[in-house]
Amino acid sequence: MAKENFGSKIGAILAAAGSAVGLGNIWRFPTETGEHGGAAFLLIYVAFMLLLGVPIMVSEFVIGRHSQRSVSDSFYMMSGGKRAWRLMGLIPVVAGFLVLSYYAVVAGWTLYYAFTSGINGFAGKTPEQFVDDFNSFISDPVQPIIWMVAILIINGLIVALGVQRGIERGAKIMMPMLFVFIVILVGCSLSLPGAADGFSFMFKPDFSKVDHGIVLSAMGQAFFSLSVGLCCLCTYACYFRKDANLMKDALSVGCIDTMVAIFSGLIIFPAVFSIQGLTPGQGPSLVFVTLPNVFQHVFGGMPLVAYLFSLVFYLLLVMAALTSSISMLEMAVAYFHENHGMNRRTASGISTVVCIVLGAACSLSFGLWSDVKLFDMGFFDLFDFIVCKLIMPIGGLLICIFLGWVVDEQVLKDELTNYGRLRTPYYPVYRFIIRYFAPICIALIFANELFRLA
Ligand code: PHE
Repeated sequence: MAKENFGSKIGAILAAAGSAVGLGNIWRFPTETGEHGGAAFLLIYVAFMLLLGVPIMVSEFVIGRHSQRSVSDSFYMMSGGKRAWRLMGLIPVVAGFLVLSYYAVVAGWTLYYAFTSGINGFAGKTPEQFVDDFNSFISDPVQPIIWMVAILIINGLIVALGVQRGIERGAKIMMPMLFVFIVILVGCSLSLPGAADGFSFMFKPDFSKVDHGIVLSAMGQAFFSLSVGLCCLCTYACYFRKDANLMKDALSVGCIDTMVAIFSGLIIFPAVFSIQGLTPGQGPSLVFVTLPNVFQHVFGGMPLVAYLFSLVFYLLLVMAALTSSISMLEMAVAYFHENHGMNRRTASGISTVVCIVLGAACSLSFGLWSDVKLFDMGFFDLFDFIVCKLIMPIGGLLICIFLGWVVDEQVLKDELTNYGRLRTPYYPVYRFIIRYFAPICIALIFANELFRLA
C-alpha cells in the first residue's frame, strides 16, 4: 500500500502547511470576511480554527500515520473491521473533484494576473479600470477557461509525475518569501490614507451585523482554510515521520494559516476603504481588484518596483495555490490508484479531464451561464457551498465521532505521545473536544440552519 510517489521524509509541517496555505487564506478569507461584516466574522472564524479546525487536523494526522493506508482502508481497519466506515473513502474523491474544479478557476485568474503583471498590463490604470477589466475577464466565455486549463494541466503533471516532493521543497523557500511579501504589503496598505477605517472594520466587532449564515460560513471558512474535514490530510500523514509531534505540528500549521489569513485581510481592507469605488462586500472579485490598486498606489512613483513586486507576488500566489491544488488532486488519484489499482498517471489524467469539464461550468457561471441556477446558486457558488458548508463539516463530524467513540483510546494516546515518548498536556482538552464539543457544536450549527430554511 505504499504511496511510492509522494515524499517519504517530508516534514509534517511543510506538507500540511503547503496544503493549508493557499487561495483559501488570501482570496477566500477576505471575501468571506467582507461579505459578513468584518470583525465579528473574524472572531468566530478564529474560535472555530482553534476549537474545531486544529483538533480535526490532529485527528486526520492520527488516522493517516497510524494506519498508513488509503482512507477507506484506514477507517475500515481502525474501526475493527466495520464495513460502513469504508464509505469514508468516498469523501475525498467526491470532494476532491468538486473543490479542485472551482479552486482551479480562481487559481487560473491568479495565473492570468501573474501574466498581466509580466507584460506590465497594470501600469497606469485607474481603480475603475481594474474593476472593469476584472469583470470583463471573468465573464469572458473563453479566456478564464484557458487559464484554468493551464493550471489544471500543470497540477495534473505534477501529480502524475510524482514530483510533489520537489514542489514541496520549493515551497519551503517560496512560502516564507510569500510571507515576507505579505508583511511588507500590510505595512504599505496600513499607510494608505483612510486605512484606519479598514483596520476597525477588521478588528472592531459590530455584532448588529451578525446574521444567521455567519456561523456556518465562519466554520466552513475555518475548515476550508485548514484543508480539514475531507480526509485530505490523512493521505499526507501516511508519510509523516514516526517522531513527528502531531499535536504541536497541527497547532503550528493552524497558527501559520490563521496569520496568513489575517495579514491578507490587513492588506485588503485598509486599501478597500482608502480607494474610491471598492466595497468590502463585493464578493470574489474583492482581492483581484484591490491588489493591483495597492501595487499602483504604493509604488506609484517607482514603476519598476511596482512591476517587479506585483509580478513576484502573483507568481508566489500561483505557487501557494498549486501546493493546495496538488493536495486536492492527490485525494482523487490516491483513491483510484489504491482502491481500483489504476496507475497514477491514468488516474491523474482522467481526474484532470473531469475537473476541466466541471471547472469550465464553474467559470461560465460568471458570464454566459450566469442565469443557470440550482438552489439559487450558479455552479461556482454551488460547488463552494457543497464543499465548505456540507461535506467539510459532515466529514469533520464523522472524523471526531470515529476517533472519539469508535477507535480504541490507546491508539490515540500512542500516536499523540509517540508511544510514550512525548508529553501531551493538552490531551484531555483534545479528547473532550472530539468526543463532545465538536460533534455537538457542528450538529447544532446544522440544526440551526435547517430550522432557518424550514
Ligand atoms: N486549504 C486550502 C487553501 O486555503 C484549500 C484546500 C481545501 C486544500 C481542501 C485542500 C483541501 O487554499
